[in-house]
This record gives sequence, C-alpha cells and structure tokens, in this order.
Amino acid sequence: MSTDSMKKRAAEAALEYLENHTILGVGTGSTANYFIDNLARIKHRLDGAVSSSEATTRRLKSVGITVLNPNTAGHLPLYVDSADETNQQLHLIKGGGGALTQEKILAATSDLFVCIADRSKLVEILGTFPLPVEVIPMAHSHVRRELLKRGGQPTLRKNVITDNGNLILDVYNMQILEPTKLEAELNNIAGIVTVGLFALRPADVLLLGTASGVRTIRHF
Ligand code: A5P
Repeated sequence: MSTDSMKKRAAEAALEYLENHTILGVGTGSTANYFIDNLARIKHRLDGAVSSSEATTRRLKSVGITVLNPNTAGHLPLYVDSADETNQQLHLIKGGGGALTQEKILAATSDLFVCIADRSKLVEILGTFPLPVEVIPMAHSHVRRELLKRGGQPTLRKNVITDNGNLILDVYNMQILEPTKLEAELNNIAGIVTVGLFALRPADVLLLGTASGVRTIRHF
C-alpha cells in the first residue's frame, strides 16, 4: 500500500473524534490536506476551524469551511495535525512544512491533540528527520552557533520565509534521547521563536495508517 493511502486512512479515522458544532484546529501538510478533504463532506457539523498556516486557511476556505481568528475562537476541543516523526510517547518533530509556530500554538490551545500519520513516521529515537527551528532573521547566526555547540548541524532552509516573517534552520544529526529536556533547553536560546519538537505538549492520540488498518496509540 502506498504512503499516501496510509495517510488517507489515518486522516479519515480522525473524523471519529469530531463532535457536532465544534470548532477545531487544523494542521498543515499533505496528511492534514487529506483530513480537510474529509472535513469538506461533513462541514455542516462544524462551527468553524482555526488554521495553522496560510496554506491551510486557503484550503479550508476553498471547501467552504469558515476560518476563525484564534484570538476570538477560544479554547479548542480538538486539534488534528500530522508530524514528520513521532516516538512511542507521542513526542513529535514537526515543521517540515514550515508552520511549526502556529502548530505549536494550536497544540497548546487544544484539549485533545490527535496526530494523524502514515506508519513511516513512527521511530524509536527522534532526530533522523532534521529538527526545524524557526528563528528571528537577525539572530540566525547566533542560533546556529548555539546549535553547533549542542552537536547539531544547522542548515538555513533556502528561499523560505515563514508566515510570521522568520527563517528556518533545519538541524541535522540530532539524536534526541531526552525530547522534553532538549525542547526546554532550546526554548531558552535568544532568537529562537519555536522549536519543532513537540514533547512538553505531545500528541494525546496517534492514528497511524498502516497497510492493515489504522493503529491507535495513546499518550501515557
Ligand atoms: C507542517 O509544518 C508540518 O509540521 C507537518 O505536519 C509535517 O511536516 C507532516 O507533513 P506531511 O503530512 O506532509 O507528511
């Protein structure tokens, strides 16, 4: 079975977590796009969505879903998004699509974070996928030096400006053995806006699309 088919399976399974007349947070990326395709069919059940990126906003609007301002939408009962990597504890690496800051805000604002992914995203140790870090433009050299000190190999993502007007460093060679500790440490480096490590606020449920169906893993 193709990776796309597994993503579609996971995306469809997330519909079961939707309650009627709810406002939900929606992530960014190809798996999130499949989820939006499913939402289009049941949009009459939604009171609206809060989006994690300009790309997702465009896609939600294109299927007729109302996109709400996160500052007035209030607390989110549900946030559905994918990840670039997840471990068994549902600590995630996110930001391959560059939307990590808004994604982290939606994760923080939600009661239930459901991560949808194909089975290739589940790993033993996070870090094979380069860790995205959003940085203030004037600080990227400083942040790069700080990341080098910690054993990472940061590379400036070419031709990318985030929705917030910032840059992204992709950090290679990070074997992330203690995700919560590393996230807290990197959060303290001046100039970093957001670290694409979601461990202090992990996903609550992982729906993993596989060739034999959808496997559910809950955070413990
Ligand atoms: C977007 O910034 C990312 O966090 C995505 O959630 C992540 O890159 C997964 O993307 P795919 O669904 O395209 O694999």
